[in-house]
Amino acid sequence: MIEKIHKTLVLKYTVIIACILLLGFAASYIAYRHNGVQLLEDTLRDYLEEELWEAEEVLNKQGQTSEIHKIKSDIQSLYNFTYWIVDNKIIHAEIPKDDFIAEQLSKRLLTQQYEYGKIHHENIKHGKQKWYFMILKSKLPSDKFANAEVIVLANYTPIRKNAKIYIKVALFSSIVMILLAYILASFLVSRSMKYIEKSYAQQKQFVSDAAHELRTPLSILYSYAELLEHKPQRQDILNDIKDEIQQMADLVEKLLSLARYDNSKIAISAKTFYVDETLKATIRSMEKLYSDVVFKFVNSDKKLEIEADEVMIKQLLGILLENAVKYTISDKKITIKAKKTSEIIKLSITDNGIGIKESDLPHIFDRFWRAETSRHQKGLGLGLSLAKTIVNLHNGKIEVQSKVGKGSTFEITLPLRQKR
Ligand SMILES: Nc1ncnc2c1ncn2[C@@H]1O[C@H](COP(=O)(O)OP(=O)(O)O)[C@@H](O)[C@H]1O
Ligand SMILES: [Mg+2]
Repeated sequence: MIEKIHKTLVLKYTVIIACILLLGFAASYIAYRHNGVQLLEDTLRDYLEEELWEAEEVLNKQGQTSEIHKIKSDIQSLYNFTYWIVDNKIIHAEIPKDDFIAEQLSKRLLTQQYEYGKIHHENIKHGKQKWYFMILKSKLPSDKFANAEVIVLANYTPIRKNAKIYIKVALFSSIVMILLAYILASFLVSRSMKYIEKSYAQQKQFVSDAAHELRTPLSILYSYAELLEHKPQRQDILNDIKDEIQQMADLVEKLLSLARYDNSKIAISAKTFYVDETLKATIRSMEKLYSDVVFKFVNSDKKLEIEADEVMIKQLLGILLENAVKYTISDKKITIKAKKTSEIIKLSITDNGIGIKESDLPHIFDRFWRAETSRHQKGLGLGLSLAKTIVNLHNGKIEVQSKVGKGSTFEITLPLRQKR
């Protein structure tokens, strides 16, 4: 499945990136052509004005003397030409140097019916070369010369040629761009997929661990039920069944919490409350449950106001206090300390229990992890991972110090306010 997502994402990214690049190219090409051609058209119109004025002057002064100038222009240069025509005869002209082109052009100008004031396009082929012209025609403004016309032309072959080169370059670079887009997309997708793959594998592991944990109590329950079938009077078995069910309920509760809290800031519903009061209440209920344990609460400041999710904080304290009781064998003494600064609250829970081996310390917050030495106790290995999730959701910190045979201290640091 991951493989398929990977491929689809690379394809989609490539298409998107390539489209953006090609669009950019197309836009710049259109802008380039439009600007070039527009500029030329404007100059041609200005040129026509000048020529009209000049033609009228000359016609007024000299009458119709025929005069043809060859202009030293080749196909490469942007150049303007002019033709004055009276009674369908050229009386004055500035024409291209190339005789063939000049002749073809004259022929065409005399035969074609161009609309006055509108830009027309013509092209003339000579050998392998093709000349492109822009043509603009007008009558003389004065009624005196009703049969006189002026035609101006611009050779814009270089612009056409440049545009062709531009398209070639664009096509070539599109191929390069698509390749680049593909490489970029693969890189981006690989990077983001790494994270997804990791969390996907973790989720799979989590589900299989959870199923495994649920299977054990279920098979125990099944064998108890079988036993009861044969000996319905055994009350002790009913108690064991209740115990197992309690265990399973606890497991399901923790699994649900983990799934709900998992890296999701939305899970928190923070409000302001006194954490020392929550602590005292939790300790009181623990005292009722475990009469053999001495709980000592040391609080340097009264009224430890904090902004946090109270339900989660209760869950967190419950997990740590329960562990402290569970992993202390005899003469159980648990000290709880609370301290406040201007920005944080520090809570610590110290027991005089079995302690944790140094090599085990990096694993204790992992899901379903339990130390070899604590296997005699019932447990799921979910408590501390849930505790860590809760602390992380509150932007806090949880640390542990422990000595085998001496005891452990779990220290939680929580900010007084939650960032929004
Ligand atoms: N206070 C403690 N003293 C000694 N070991 C502890 C203590 N708290 C946790 N541990 C160790 O860390 C493991 C994980 O704890 P936890 O996640 O609460 O799971 P569980 O209590 O269900 O085994 C425990 O199995 C135990 O080995
Ligand atoms: Mg526990």
